[in-house]
Amino acid sequence: MTANSTANTATASSQGLLMFESEDEAARRVAIEDLHARTAIYTASPVVDDLLLRLGWPSGTARLVDPSCGGGMFLARALSALLAARPAGFDPCGQIEGWEIHPIACIEARSRVAGILVSHGWSHAHAATLATDMVHNRDFLTEGPTTPQWDIVAGNPPYLRAANVPDLLRTEYSRHVPDYAQGDLLHSFLERYSRTVLPAGRIGLVTSDRWLFNQGASRLRENLGQRLSLAHAERLSAETTFYRPKQRRAGSPPRVHPVSVVLVSDDGAEQNLTGRPIHPGVDEERYAGLGLLGDFADVRIAPWLGTEGIFVIDAATSRGLPPECLVPAIDTDDIKDGMFGTPTRWAIRTVPGERPCPEIMAHLESRMHLMARRGRQGKV
Ligand SMILES: C[S@@+](CC[C@H](N)C(=O)[O-])C[C@H]1O[C@@H](n2cnc3c(N)ncnc32)[C@H](O)[C@@H]1O
Repeated sequence: MTANSTANTATASSQGLLMFESEDEAARRVAIEDLHARTAIYTASPVVDDLLLRLGWPSGTARLVDPSCGGGMFLARALSALLAARPAGFDPCGQIEGWEIHPIACIEARSRVAGILVSHGWSHAHAATLATDMVHNRDFLTEGPTTPQWDIVAGNPPYLRAANVPDLLRTEYSRHVPDYAQGDLLHSFLERYSRTVLPAGRIGLVTSDRWLFNQGASRLRENLGQRLSLAHAERLSAETTFYRPKQRRAGSPPRVHPVSVVLVSDDGAEQNLTGRPIHPGVDEERYAGLGLLGDFADVRIAPWLGTEGIFVIDAATSRGLPPECLVPAIDTDDIKDGMFGTPTRWAIRTVPGERPCPEIMAHLESRMHLMARRGRQGKV
C-alpha cells in the first residue's frame, strides 16, 4: 500500500465504510465526494442557452457531450433545444451525452434529462431508460475516450489546482494526462476536449479566465493550438453565471472571473492558439509596442487577504506593529491617473509554519471575530 492510499483509506475509515464496501471503494467514494464538493459550480440556464446558440446547436445529426455535467443543466437545455427543433416523436438517442463522476449529481442530471423527455411525451419508464443511457456515472479523465468523437463539447469543466485534487485521483490522472496539462483539472479537461472533438467541431465553455493568460498555462495554450483556434471569448459576471456556488454561503459568489469561450477544431490553421496570453475584452492595439510588466517586475498574484482590519490594516493600526512584519498593500483605488499613489494600507507578512511575533498574534486574536467563518481554522 502506498503512502497516498494509506492516507485516503484513513480518511475513508474515519468516515466509515458503507455496507458491502471495501476499503478501496470507500477511499474512492470519499475522494470523489471531496472532488465534487470542491468543483461543483453549476451554470445558470440563460448562460447555457447563449452558449448553445453560439455553438449553432442543434445542427443536423451533430453530437454533443458535456464531459462534467454536474446536475445536467447543459444536457437539459441542449435536449430542449433539440426536441423543439425536431418533429414530435423524434428520438434524440445518441445525439446528447453526459459524463459525471459524482453519483448523486449524476442521478440529478438523469432526472433533469428525463423530466424534459416526459414533458415531450415520453413515458416515465422510457424517459428514465434513455436518461440512464445518456448520462454516464464515470470519470471522464480516466475512462473517457481519447480520440475524436463529438461535434460539440459543451460545459463548465471543473477547475481545481492539482495540489487540491484528492491524492488517489491525482495519481490516477497523472497516468492519463500529459504533464503540461496536469497543473489544474481545468487544463486536463481542456487537453482532453482538444483530442475528443471532431475536425471542424466546436468546444463551448463557461470557465475561469486564468488559463487564457497565465504564464503557467502557456504550454497548454501552445499544445491546444495544434488543433484549436479561438472563435469567441467574452467575460461573464460571477454573480449571475452560476446558480449553485460550491460550498459557499448564500450571497457569496465564487472567487472566479468567468468567461464564455468558443474554440474551433482547425488542424494547423494560422489563427490557432499559441503560447501567447489572451486577454478577453482588451484592445491589444492600445498596448502595441509597449514593454510588458513582467519584463521589469516579478509579479505574483497573492491570495485574497480577507476583510480589511485583519491581515490588511490601515496606517493607524500599523503604528502599533513591528515594521518588519508589514508590507505595503495596494488596491485599484491607489491608482490615480495611471500612477500608484502612496500606499495607505499594509499587509501583515506571516511565514508558513512559523508562529508570528506576540504583537502580531495579539492583533490577529483581537480581530478574529471579524474574519469570515471559512477563514477561521483555529490557527494563524
Ligand atoms: C463546474 S461543475 C459543472 C457542472 C455542469 N457542467 C454545469 O455547468 O452546470 C463540474 C462538475 O464536474 C464533475 N467532475 C469533476 N471531475 C470529473 C471527472 N474527472 N469526470 C467527470 N466529472 C467530473 C464534478 O463532480 C462537478 O459536478
